[in-house]
Amino acid sequence: MKKRIKIKYGNVLLILIVLGLISYIIVSIITPKEDDKKMNEKPKTTSKATTNTTTSETTTTTSETTTTTTTTTKKITTTTTKNNANAQSNKTGKTSKGYTVEYKDGAYYVGGYLIVNKTYPLTSTWKPSNTFKAVPSDGFAREPLNNEAYENWKQMKSDAAALGLNLWAQSGYRSYDYQNDLYNGYVKRKGKAAADTFSARPGHSEHQSGLAFDLNTIDSSFKNTDEGKWVAKNAYLYGYILRYPEGKTNETGYIYEPWHIRYVGKELATALYNGGDWITMENYFGVTSEYDN
Ligand code: DAL
Ligand code: ZN
Repeated sequence: MKKRIKIKYGNVLLILIVLGLISYIIVSIITPKEDDKKMNEKPKTTSKATTNTTTSETTTTTSETTTTTTTTTKKITTTTTKNNANAQSNKTGKTSKGYTVEYKDGAYYVGGYLIVNKTYPLTSTWKPSNTFKAVPSDGFAREPLNNEAYENWKQMKSDAAALGLNLWAQSGYRSYDYQNDLYNGYVKRKGKAAADTFSARPGHSEHQSGLAFDLNTIDSSFKNTDEGKWVAKNAYLYGYILRYPEGKTNETGYIYEPWHIRYVGKELATALYNGGDWITMENYFGVTSEYDN
């Protein structure tokens, strides 16, 4: 019995050795050489690492490749975003007077106040919210006008009327398209350089904001009328400013417009009134009014 068992063990051992040899030969034949392996590597191989050094190298390579790809993608994304927000990003941030310019939903705000000038445009689709419906007798044929601005305008008009002064709104809200036609009409008649001194390019007019309008006669003679004099002295009490004061063309970018008033609220209007020596929004907040091109 003992002998038969010993022989069986011997046979099994022999078979195992033979099988081992055969396996070794087969594995040697089908496993590619180191160089072949590297040649066939794909940069983005994500197969799991097995055990040897080569696999480890592969993983490192894959990882580096992936990292590079991600970085590149990030760079591209950042560049695209920058391009999209190009105009906005270089106009936002701190002003020379320490106020913050922000961009929100197609408009710029400085120190929390909507700013519309040659530097800061409204998008073509920007429309005022919180608006009052047209009152034809007031001359606002093309509403909307901001509700708060309207309420203060009504008070100003009625207080002026009590003194025998007749104030009326000649031109109120103007859409982007309307301003486009208006501006281009001036360009045709007077040339671009001249038009830019008194008419805003589309998107750059405060009339699109629903916060500004022109009073009575759109002419420099308005300054010397009783109404013009009263407005220059009292508009700030109703939250309105003379947006383009005399002698401030280099700040506002426009000639003196005694007829154009803009609602900013009583607090800022009082500061800008400055005892009668008007300060422009540009000077007060430390911003420019210059076209990009
Ligand atoms: N006249 C002013 C600047 C405008 O066109 O909005
Ligand atoms: Zn105006």
